[in-house]
Amino acid sequence: MENILEMKNINKQFYGVQALKNVNFSVRPGEVHVLVGENGAGKSTLMKILSGAYQMDSGEIYFAGEKLDIKTPLDAQERGISIIYQEFNLIPGLSVAENIYLGREPLKKSGLIDWDLLYKNTRELLDRLQADIDPRTLVSQLSVAEQQFVEISKALSFDSKLIVMDEPSATLTPKELERLFAVIRDLKSQGIAIIYISHHLDELFEIGDRLTVLRDGEWITTDNIEDVDKNYIIKMMVGRELTNSYPPREVTPGEVVLEVKNLTREGVLDNISFSLRQGEILAIAGLVGSGRTELVRALYGADPKDSGEVIFKGKPIQIDSPKDSINHGIGLLPEDRKQQGLVLGQSVRNNITLASLDKLIDRMLIRDNKEKEAVHKYIKDLGIKTPSEDILAMNLSGGNQQKVVLAKWLFTDSEILIFDEPTRGIDVGAKYEIYVLMNELTKQGKSIIMISSELPEVIGISDRVLVLHKGRITGEYHRGDLSQEKIMKSAAGEVN
Ligand SMILES: Nc1ncnc2c1ncn2[C@@H]1O[C@H](COP(=O)(O)OP(=O)(O)OP(=O)(O)O)[C@@H](O)[C@H]1O
Ligand SMILES: [Mg+2]
Repeated sequence: MENILEMKNINKQFYGVQALKNVNFSVRPGEVHVLVGENGAGKSTLMKILSGAYQMDSGEIYFAGEKLDIKTPLDAQERGISIIYQEFNLIPGLSVAENIYLGREPLKKSGLIDWDLLYKNTRELLDRLQADIDPRTLVSQLSVAEQQFVEISKALSFDSKLIVMDEPSATLTPKELERLFAVIRDLKSQGIAIIYISHHLDELFEIGDRLTVLRDGEWITTDNIEDVDKNYIIKMMVGRELTNSYPPREVTPGEVVLEVKNLTREGVLDNISFSLRQGEILAIAGLVGSGRTELVRALYGADPKDSGEVIFKGKPIQIDSPKDSINHGIGLLPEDRKQQGLVLGQSVRNNITLASLDKLIDRMLIRDNKEKEAVHKYIKDLGIKTPSEDILAMNLSGGNQQKVVLAKWLFTDSEILIFDEPTRGIDVGAKYEIYVLMNELTKQGKSIIMISSELPEVIGISDRVLVLHKGRITGEYHRGDLSQEKIMKSAAGEVN
């Protein structure tokens, strides 16, 4: 079959770092071509070159038989190439319709915007996706999944022949993911090619036709999905065999350090009580929207609570703000790294040491060395891919930015660490390193509360699991007594 896209010998450098080396990549019409690789492998960079967001240093791009010279994102869109970025590109303060037709609004003879037609066209696009979204709604009021559908509608409005989705599934519920897959299959049947980037390897088998692996900016292999298995993909990505997904748990949890009693927030959290032991990894499972994030945010003081008591090492403590938590030695790695965890305009080093600065300033003299040592340790242990610690966080790949936020919390002296989806967007090899670090922290006597949507991860590393459903605890399971099935039943509301 003739290729719709051919990228040949693509090279790209950033500050002396070769992000892409002579990469060849081609896509057929109507196929879902999966692009995988570790954090920083060059996936997003390759796609940003295709979309006109970055300029390549050298190479050639052919699209629909013609040589392309893409200077701007609009060039690419007008040629029929659309990209949905890892970080969405919508304007929150504008409506769905305004976002889709931004700068291309249909006009009346008078030259004014034809709002009726604008909404009608938008409605038709959304209908093609069976998306039940009002074209007049502000984007700021949409869920992540809905925003994704708006992005896809926008791509359709350009009559795209190729749509790139950069980690579309990272924040979707299983149900929303099914919807997305249905939409992708529908686009395929219309002959539209899809490039799909994801760190969830299981998905690839469900949706992909072919697969290309990048490693360290180089093309490694392109295969038919039906000819490969997960181990092969991991080996191609990482460059070596990964035998275990999870390190063994060797810590036996000790005394109770934290007790939460009857935590309630009207309409969100219903009388939640649980305890956490020293050295324990306690997972909180449940569907998106079950109140997991709300629970830890209320506990941490990021959201208000109506009632409830927190007892820390036998004494009641008052937590009204994140500052209170930090003072008591409780840290939270938020779910939404970009907005809550990372200062994009600051260096990697500053981001890692930001939360601990107070502590370091007390000891001015040793500050520089201690800081340097710690920063180096985490860059190495977590495999943060950056040419130096002085690089601005905004220049790191998506997954590496997340590792920086994680390092920041590992670096604090927190006794209790709350991690909300710690491995989202993180590649397979680095995930293992994060689990090893979590084990290490618990060996030092720290306790961890972890929210995770990935059940294998929950089962692989936690000592105990609480399951939430509609703001209530519906299940509690101990290591050894854990199964995906039990957790899923409790997550669906069955009380055990
Ligand atoms: N604007 C930029 N300035 C400097 N370096 C950059 C820039 N964009 C990307 N890089 C570097 O290029 C390399 C490839 O990054 P890229 O974002 O393509 O990785 P990725 O494969 O998408 O990773 P992830 O899975 O983490 O999203 C990384 O080392 C990254 O730090
Ligand atoms: Mg990326």
